Amino acid sequence: MADPTSRRTKFILDEDRIPRTWYNIVADLPIPPAPVLHPGTGQPIGPDDLAPLFPMALIAQEVSTEREIEIPEPVRDAYRLYRPSPLYRAHRLEKALDTPAHIYYKYEGVSPAGSHKPNTAIPQAFYNREAGTRRMATETGAGQWGTALAFAGALFGLEVKVYMVRASYDQKPYRRMLMETYGAEVVASPSLTTNYGRKVLSETPDSPGSLGMAISEAVEDAATRDDTKYALGSVLNHVLLHQTVIGQEAILQMEMAGEDPDVIIGCAGGGSNFAGMSFPFLGRNFREGTSYRVIAVEPEAAPSLTRGLYAYDFGDTAKMTPMVKMHTLGHDFIPEPIHAGGLRYHGMSPLVSLLKEHGYIEAQSVHQRASFEAGVRFARTEGILPAPEPTHAIKVAVDEALTARETGESKVILFNLCGHGHFDLTAYERYLSGQLEDYEYPLEKVEAALAGLPRV
Ligand SMILES: Cc1ncc(COP(=O)(O)O)c(C=O)c1O
Repeated sequence: MADPTSRRTKFILDEDRIPRTWYNIVADLPIPPAPVLHPGTGQPIGPDDLAPLFPMALIAQEVSTEREIEIPEPVRDAYRLYRPSPLYRAHRLEKALDTPAHIYYKYEGVSPAGSHKPNTAIPQAFYNREAGTRRMATETGAGQWGTALAFAGALFGLEVKVYMVRASYDQKPYRRMLMETYGAEVVASPSLTTNYGRKVLSETPDSPGSLGMAISEAVEDAATRDDTKYALGSVLNHVLLHQTVIGQEAILQMEMAGEDPDVIIGCAGGGSNFAGMSFPFLGRNFREGTSYRVIAVEPEAAPSLTRGLYAYDFGDTAKMTPMVKMHTLGHDFIPEPIHAGGLRYHGMSPLVSLLKEHGYIEAQSVHQRASFEAGVRFARTEGILPAPEPTHAIKVAVDEALTARETGESKVILFNLCGHGHFDLTAYERYLSGQLEDYEYPLEKVEAALAGLPRV
């Protein structure tokens, strides 16, 4: 066991420690997940209902109750391009905060796309290629997911079409260019290429778009073409499953550091990086009686977990996707155009929602200015420029470390630094020049959006 007082900064695993299985938390949940309902009939759906959108291997993972699911060798082989990702001890941030707490972060920004998203883009592209899919359609908020699928499509020889939320498309031209460099076709959503996009634009020509709208466009694209399947970058069980490589590696790396985290923190848009980091630890809570405290952090502008309703809702704005039981702000709620584009989602993963509803995890919401302040402090101490999304996790990690300073507690904090912010410099510039706005939680808009939801 390593000495936790040492100056060791990076905890690196060899390539042969890339996990061989994904961890499925459903096997350990004390409460079974609620069924997924058909958007038309409201009845529980079966695998055939999802077949137009996803290959069977992914549908099987979506409903699996097996604890461990083997990672196919070609997927592990592609993971070798960037996995295992490093775990860092944030010595310099600790010193700047003058805290007795030990802060660790798992850095997923080392992937070619710059975030955790390839952890699921690679298997999704692999299973689609195995099933004979030629083309994939998807949405992207921050541009990170679109980049990841474009990269994975290039690895497995698939065409990729990306509907990029208009607000991000305008904020991040270099993300679009990177996706195009990988060979993907990118349009701003709402777009003129789908019926749903044309309808939105005829009613709201200057719509900033939302993840819910872009999902509707990508689902319509896949459902209306035989050669195309749909890929989602978050929310669904199989996506969270693929991300558990993060937490499984972190468990080994914390052992190398000779420490055990007291609190584990991740930002949550649809819930995938948060789940990827925390589910392997939560599995220990369920199976072994450990008591890791786990916190999901979301933006004040889209506070689904902290202020949404736990109800059946659609994953998209046009009501084309199945209905899932989750924390939601209502499928037609359009969050303000904050710079953490990946956190601008009306809903939340059903698994993360279930855990929150039953008190197995905590949730907090933070404003974007406070998040950027923490992100800049992190960049100035640790050197890595975080994506706007994980600055939310950093903010809460800093708060926890400052509380430890007051109480004198020697707490161990672990958070997921799920992506770098090299394409988000416009947002940093706005923060540094004092132009970044905080958006108050739009209570009336959310209440209006929630009013139409069935209370199942
Ligand atoms: C860097 C980054 N972090 C977080 C998210 C939020 O997604 P999730 O909650 O599924 O991790 C995104 C989504 O695009 C992202 O790009």
